[in-house]
Amino acid sequence: MFITFEGLDGVGKTTQVRMLQQALIGLQHNVLVTREPGGTRIGARIRSLLLDERNSDLTPTAELFLYLADRSQHLAEVILPALKSGKWVLCDRFVDATIAYQGYARGGDIGWISELNARATGSLSPDLTFLLDCPVEVALGRIRHRNNAASGRLSEKRFDMERIEFHRKVREGYLALAGSSNGKARYRVVDASRSAEAIHRVLLLEVLDRLRVYERN
Ligand code: TMP
Repeated sequence: MFITFEGLDGVGKTTQVRMLQQALIGLQHNVLVTREPGGTRIGARIRSLLLDERNSDLTPTAELFLYLADRSQHLAEVILPALKSGKWVLCDRFVDATIAYQGYARGGDIGWISELNARATGSLSPDLTFLLDCPVEVALGRIRHRNNAASGRLSEKRFDMERIEFHRKVREGYLALAGSSNGKARYRVVDASRSAEAIHRVLLLEVLDRLRVYERN
């Protein structure tokens, strides 16, 4: 089963990925956790190019292609082999992030981005996508807190420096994707302003539900 986690920066995706991983391991499943950008050695280098706040001169098209390059490498090297060997794959961000960030927020052509996503992934679609959703102010508040605590460490702040309007468009983009006719079956929108434990319970129940259906088919 291939599960992706999406949402604004600061909604708690990484915590939820780890909590679900632990729960699934406890149920004797074989689980691989990964992320985009940066799920491979090459991807880690692409990630630092993309997120370094000194790279404010990166053009929108260069940015888009770097995310796609990261994804293509990640798919071939990590995701497909893991799925083929029967593992669960929990991935922190995937194709929808590019549509929300480079499409809805940066103003890129969504049809074109979807086509490029399909090229980069061979049209592989997640079985389930959790959209952790909360007001932009809540998510940004958490990021500020995190950045203060991490000051002096590796710089990954390029997106945190975007204006609030940018993050609002990302959120709207994600909600539009989740509400679209294609998105409805795949997405589960979860209120991310709740506690990590409360969110985890919702996610785990949903996964166990889907697993029952998955195993029946
Ligand atoms: P992360 O902090 O969740 O690992 O993500 C890094 C940043 O990259 C985050 O601000 C969202 C952004 N991003 C895109 O703009 N497009 C993409 O396709 C992906 C995967 C992430």
